[in-house]
Amino acid sequence: MTITTVRCVSAEKLLESPPRQRHYEPRRPPSLFEIREMIQNVCSELVLDNSQLHKVMTAMEKSMNEGLAKETASTASVRMLPSFVRSVPNGSELGDFLALDLGGTNFRVLLVRLTVEGSTMMSKIFRVPDNLMKGTGEALFDHIAHCMAVFIEENNIDKSKKLPLGFTFSFPCKQEGLTRGKLISWTKGFKASGVEGMDVVELLREACHRRKDIDIDVVALLNDTVGTLMACAFKENNCEIGVIVGTGTNACYMEKLDKCGKLEGIVDKNDRPDQMIINTEWGAFGDDGAMAFLRTEFDDIVDKESINPGKQLFEKTISGMYMGELTRVILEKLARDKLLFGGHYEAIAQPHIFPTKYVSEIEAELKDDQEQTFSKTYSILEDIGVEGLSTADCANVAYVCSVVSSRAAFLTAAGIAMLIRRMGKKEIVIGVDGSVYRFHPTFPQLLDEKIGELLGNSNQEYRLMLSEDGSGRGAALVAAVATRLKQERGEK
Ligand code: GLC
Repeated sequence: MTITTVRCVSAEKLLESPPRQRHYEPRRPPSLFEIREMIQNVCSELVLDNSQLHKVMTAMEKSMNEGLAKETASTASVRMLPSFVRSVPNGSELGDFLALDLGGTNFRVLLVRLTVEGSTMMSKIFRVPDNLMKGTGEALFDHIAHCMAVFIEENNIDKSKKLPLGFTFSFPCKQEGLTRGKLISWTKGFKASGVEGMDVVELLREACHRRKDIDIDVVALLNDTVGTLMACAFKENNCEIGVIVGTGTNACYMEKLDKCGKLEGIVDKNDRPDQMIINTEWGAFGDDGAMAFLRTEFDDIVDKESINPGKQLFEKTISGMYMGELTRVILEKLARDKLLFGGHYEAIAQPHIFPTKYVSEIEAELKDDQEQTFSKTYSILEDIGVEGLSTADCANVAYVCSVVSSRAAFLTAAGIAMLIRRMGKKEIVIGVDGSVYRFHPTFPQLLDEKIGELLGNSNQEYRLMLSEDGSGRGAALVAAVATRLKQERGEK
């Protein structure tokens, strides 16, 4: 006889512990609800609450103070670059000005006419081919000069008259005056050789001399944020912050000279006005680790695969050059984890297959399509080549898009709220421009509301104002103010 020992489990015990799944029972596939929960879990680190955003504000202000102080300026991650623009236009600026605008894949030449009635503009857009963005500086500036010559020719602009020119160059430049500026480092996918460390106004002049058929008089070099601020200030005198959320992101604001320790000995503090627009270059916030507490594995992947790893980390969480790619990296992970597209990840695993405009289009559909048919989302994903697509997938992709773009809007809001608080004005207008701000369906509203939340009960009134072509009009305005001052000083 064999004696078997049977372990007895009391009835109470059985009730306490959950029933164990018997191994021969097929596992139930997760419900749509459970899948969404798992997706939310993967995305949870990208959802920032106000206490984290307040932490961003504190850390960014610290970085900005480092950028302004004499002792720390040379190593600070947020550069805080003096623009040498010290007053906003007063509306009396008049004349014809040429403006150049280089800052992304497009390059523009403009003729801006400022009259008492307002301003009119003629402009032409030229593409900057990828090989020129990454070729030699000489070839890049020759292309710029060529485009300018074409524009002058096509618009019968009198070549014998040297028109004053404002050059919007939307990269970090160390300026030593209004008409000189050395490129510190390329951003936004540019890598042309022989330009970093050089005066870009000089490079432009040399390119014109090489052609011999055009002569220019560069009276102002400026960042696009400064152009945006100036263009809005032309209409609203209390505009003192300029922000770009486009291919890249950046902000400038009017700072008191006594807060700019590094300008000691360069600008006389007693000079009036006792202020200067500072181009923050906030895109580089976090390059020193100051943003480590909110970075995710997805941010690390996007950064590692970029042309400038370790650089422009704040920009990489926000701007149009990266928003689509960041979304794609998350979608790839979800597909690999079988939470999307029935596990078919091959199509979505292709780098840069999901540009930022898809994020805007998918979220526009999420917002407007009452029946939630996701027809646009379907067609975008099908065009990419995604297989095994369902309506639930489309809804989940839209969810991921909204998580990524909301975080971008909230981080931008943290930067702006910090500047408003720092400046301490009772009323302030913020000029804003850039493709993400213009074309993303919910970004402007999210940004606006979050700034309000972050300012709390501060009693500071603020208003976001879309800039009407700041890079062009603003360049002309800076040029106009500079020309007026020059004339007032009796210079030719
Ligand atoms: C990048 C550039 C900055 C520019 C911004 C928006 O961050 O470094 O100069 O203002 O893009 O175009």
